Amino acid sequence: MALLIRNGEIVTVGSRVHADIYVENETVTKIGQSLEAPPNAEIIDATGKLIFPGFIDPHVHIYLPFMATFAKDTHETGSIAALIGGTTTYIEMCCPNRNDDALEGYELWKSKAGGNSACDYAFHMSVTKFVKETESQLRQIVADGTASFKIFLAYKNFFGVDDGEMYQTLELAKRLGVITTAHCENAELVARLQQELLAEGKTGPEWHEPSRPESVEAEGTGRFATFLENTGATGYVVHLSCEKALRVALDAKSRGVKIHVESVLPHFLLDKIYAERPGVEGMKHVMSPPLRAKHNQDALWKALASGSIDTVGTDHCPFDTEQKLLGKGSFVNIPNGIPGIEDRVNLLYAQGVKRGRLDLERFVDCASMRAAKLFGLFPRKGTIAVGSDADLVVYDTSYRGAVSAKSQHVNNDYSGFEGMKIEGRPSVVTVRGKIQVRDGKFVGERGRGKMLKREPSHF
Ligand code: URP
Ligand code: ZN
Ligand code: ZN
Repeated sequence: MALLIRNGEIVTVGSRVHADIYVENETVTKIGQSLEAPPNAEIIDATGKLIFPGFIDPHVHIYLPFMATFAKDTHETGSIAALIGGTTTYIEMCCPNRNDDALEGYELWKSKAGGNSACDYAFHMSVTKFVKETESQLRQIVADGTASFKIFLAYKNFFGVDDGEMYQTLELAKRLGVITTAHCENAELVARLQQELLAEGKTGPEWHEPSRPESVEAEGTGRFATFLENTGATGYVVHLSCEKALRVALDAKSRGVKIHVESVLPHFLLDKIYAERPGVEGMKHVMSPPLRAKHNQDALWKALASGSIDTVGTDHCPFDTEQKLLGKGSFVNIPNGIPGIEDRVNLLYAQGVKRGRLDLERFVDCASMRAAKLFGLFPRKGTIAVGSDADLVVYDTSYRGAVSAKSQHVNNDYSGFEGMKIEGRPSVVTVRGKIQVRDGKFVGERGRGKMLKREPSHF
């Protein structure tokens, strides 16, 4: 069915214009003044509202067997939460572990999403070992439309790769024109620091950060950059948490290394004090890299405003209170992860745009367009233009509220951002022209989401 959105202010990177948007067959077909629509078209009056391109979360975990348990969301719950928060596309980390077959893992991850997601989605394919069949398997996966890899320098013996495997992955990625995303922490140092702390009887969640200090992340970031430099591959550091690692990444960029940087919502808004809360309250804020000393947030916001940090993801990874308590005897057993898929857009708007840390176009860029460009989704996604998918977020800037576990749609019994103020929210969200959300409620079609096939573009 046709859709006409009238009188909104369309905000894309490079343009702000008051105009109507007409949608047919899932696509934006006209943008202009006083557009007409056939009698059966759905009409939305967006007077006084902003219209953004659908937001893209470049880093989520939905199906994730990890740390003796599973992340809590399904694609049904995760995608509905995403849409209510204005995210119309997410890229999930496909994470088989070292003992799994990569291709079987890929098919498993696809089967979890297929027919279940209400928003569009894609995958980053994790390379968690490099054995004789890896190259041909990765070629098949790229040919299937998954044109980005993921490596973990952390999580030794589980997801983690060694330097040889990192080299082989990047060398192949360069030949295939695929971007490689990387979790950058030195696995060996983490393992040793964990053992030292535990031997001293330091078992609570407050010891998670000291077991993975900033220098450990800076080392991982620097090593990844050096391997990019020497293979000519393009890389993307995920969930960068601190100024020290940021400086290393930007230094590499300034000497011509093709490196991009993502940080994630928790690192802009939460600091290590949260993980130092006693008992399970601290455990709820354990993620890796860990929440850092507060002064880092200033550096992250500034780098985000200038575009030195390319994107903001969530690293959405919900574990409930009972699961977090798996780590009550030892911080090394606390499932790592904080949910955020529902809150990213609204909190970036409230804490970034409304507080003057981020201009509106950069907001659209870091939360939508930049990820679309880096990961082969642009201009289908990441902008509002004739020919683009009609993923649209009509944003009501007059809404006032707060994050609350009681009202969230994420499948979890707490929120890491509990009580944080929201100053605006999506009033209408469409996925390829279909209205999926109205005023905080899912009103659409479950399972509407499609896997987005992407072409390699990083040669
Ligand atoms: O703590 C985190 N980040 N959990 C999810 C796994 C990962 O490292 O991305
Ligand atoms: Zn990670
Ligand atoms: Zn992650």
